[in-house]
Amino acid sequence: MRKKIVAGNWKMHKNAEQTEDLLNDLIAKIPTDTAATVIVAPTFINLASAVEHLQFTNIEVAAQNVHQAESGAFTGEISADMLKSVGVDIVILGHSERRAIFNETDALIANKVGTALEHDMTVIFCFGEELKDRQSKNHFNIVENQLRDGLFQIEAKDWEKVILAYEPVWAIGTGETASPEQAQEMHEFIRETVRKNYGNDIAENVSILYGGSVKPENAKEIFSKPDVDGGLIGGAALKADDFVAIVNAI
Ligand code: 13P
Repeated sequence: MRKKIVAGNWKMHKNAEQTEDLLNDLIAKIPTDTAATVIVAPTFINLASAVEHLQFTNIEVAAQNVHQAESGAFTGEISADMLKSVGVDIVILGHSERRAIFNETDALIANKVGTALEHDMTVIFCFGEELKDRQSKNHFNIVENQLRDGLFQIEAKDWEKVILAYEPVWAIGTGETASPEQAQEMHEFIRETVRKNYGNDIAENVSILYGGSVKPENAKEIFSKPDVDGGLIGGAALKADDFVAIVNAI
């Protein structure tokens, strides 16, 4: 069943105390009967306390990254087993910041996806074109290639553990949002691409989130589009009232 999902990617924001404060606000303000699956992704160091804090709530916890290896001499890295051992079952992979700033290639992301799925984790798979790709009308090709090279190595059975997040790079942190029509056009293309490769059931059941300057003011219109199943929220996820308003827009 296709789920409505609102996920907050906190990126490198919020220390331990600020994490606790924001979680307390979210627990108090997100309706217990919300129609959305709500996910938050604090930084690695605050994941264990976030899981504990959210134990008896309807808010789930995701990591922002995972290393592809099981263990080993990889100074500064975190494994899937470590995440699972503190109760984290969801991981964001392929984010444009990891692709651009940390040189993550499609091949590396595919590797990480494989590791996460082997550990029975849910993957929020991010992808999206840069401004130059859209200007040169190459955005559909770029998106199709990112899906093919980073994700389409998975087996049909793995799709129940995958959430797609289309995040056009030109809309991330810029205040410039894709119009609801642009989002719908691309989400429809993405679903069609999944359909071509994996069949109708998987295409209809996968949730496709939109990310890029989603705010309380534009969330409702974007979420109202038939192929938009929710959002991956950056800046607006750092303020409880904004994030709750976006959750309520579902
Ligand atoms: P903004 O909502 O700040 O544009 O960030 C989106 C994003 O990158 C979520 O992963």
